[in-house]
Amino acid sequence: IVEHCIKHFNTNHSLAGQHWVITAGPTREAIDPVRYISNHSSGKMGFSIADAAQSFGAKVTIIAGPVNLPTPNNCTRIDVQSAENMHEIALAQAVNADVFVACAAVADYKVAKISEHKLKKTSSNDAMSIALVKNPDIVASITALKDKPFTVGFAAETQDVEHYAKGKLVRKNLDMIAANDVAKQGQGFNSDDNALKVFWHNGSKELPLTAKKQLAEQLVALIHDRVQND
Ligand code: C5P
Repeated sequence: IVEHCIKHFNTNHSLAGQHWVITAGPTREAIDPVRYISNHSSGKMGFSIADAAQSFGAKVTIIAGPVNLPTPNNCTRIDVQSAENMHEIALAQAVNADVFVACAAVADYKVAKISEHKLKKTSSNDAMSIALVKNPDIVASITALKDKPFTVGFAAETQDVEHYAKGKLVRKNLDMIAANDVAKQGQGFNSDDNALKVFWHNGSKELPLTAKKQLAEQLVALIHDRVQND
């Protein structure tokens, strides 16, 4: 079905008239003027989804954390740094979105009080600690909107992939979740390849290991299929 959908998409631009909003990459949580907390997300999966969606005719907005990637053709890109920035932009964009794909690896916590000046090491302190507070859950605030877009989340897990992914599908009130096992070599974070297990409320589909570009096309076709059957 997915292969068929892709062929079908390529010939008649089935996503024309739809606005897809995609978060991608890591967020960067400042500690002081020169330091931050972040993660290894490359943004490749989110950018590949954006590229696939635009190639099938959608209007696409990417909300990107700090990544080293060119903007795909025909996509509008809004660069952000922190989870708070991403949250603000995502809420503003989601209002006129048909599909929202939360692919960003958002930092769970931010620094409670960003230091105005560079923190200094002292000869007397061998240990130091930084107080952290929880960031807003961006995708959960999108699904809490009265007129919510069809919302897809991601789950990067190292064990019990299906169990945790299905838990997030329900807890975050998502329409679909794409889970990947980041403990496996050669897929997920920073890799060019990925494999996904996709779950929705009454079904699932495995998308086996392949280049993120191909995987993104299969996922976009699957999302479109679910949007139509929802
Ligand atoms: O809870 P966890 O971080 O594992 O959930 C992952 C999913 O939730 C991803 O789709 C991610 O983009 C989204 N998320 C978010 N805002 C957060 C944390 C996660 O949108 N603060």
